[in-house]
Amino acid sequence: MARLATISPTLAPVAVRDMLDRSAIGALEIPRPPLDHLPYRDFVHALLRAPGFKLDFNRLEPDAALALASDQLFGRGAYLRERALLAADIGALANLAEGLVGARASVTIRTYFAPGDLVWHVDRIEERAGFRLLWPLGRPAGMRVTPADNIDAPIHRAYLRREHPLLGRLDTQVLRSGAAVEALWAHRPAQLAAMMSGRFPFLVDPEREIEVTTGAASIHRAETPAQTGTYHRSSWTNRHAPGLQVVITVTSDSR
Ligand SMILES: [Fe+2]
Repeated sequence: MARLATISPTLAPVAVRDMLDRSAIGALEIPRPPLDHLPYRDFVHALLRAPGFKLDFNRLEPDAALALASDQLFGRGAYLRERALLAADIGALANLAEGLVGARASVTIRTYFAPGDLVWHVDRIEERAGFRLLWPLGRPAGMRVTPADNIDAPIHRAYLRREHPLLGRLDTQVLRSGAAVEALWAHRPAQLAAMMSGRFPFLVDPEREIEVTTGAASIHRAETPAQTGTYHRSSWTNRHAPGLQVVITVTSDSR
């Protein structure tokens, strides 16, 4: 399978932005060590044993946001050192993302699996420029990306028009009940098979799929009025081990 271009996390954000702007696929990856080599693995595994959740950092710095979650889940002062180290790594990636557009990043973490992400899509934003940096910790497989010309746009549009409300409902059901997607959509075998394989009717050539290296962080372009977005989907392999997904979004109207 083809691979994305890889950059060093120390590369200047302006150079990264330049690469993203020139890239046809609009995505690149940043190597990260596997979770079990990281000094905060015990903290992450503890977060993964808690019921699935999503935490929006809002205006909080990463260390304050993680402290809030950790104090609530594990008691005051638990995992003090680990959470500070994880916060520092999230902060470094957020800084890189912020440098792409010169605006503050919005950061969320989540530990549940959203089945809607299994369908090829672009992330849409209203501002002129926007990028999303994803860093999955403890996920067994990397996200898939494919060139825009590998998606049959009219078929994709019709598919989403029909499926989007159903996928939204499915995401909510999975989040609330933790029920298996296979059971919830047992009556929709064709849609389920496509989610498992990624072979949707609008995908022109299934061979033109690129897998982000397992555990690596990746940055992809959002679709905006001024730029094309990167088509991506998550892998079915992650269905029962969604890991901790760090989601960093940056948008700007000026750059
Ligand atoms: Fe997405």
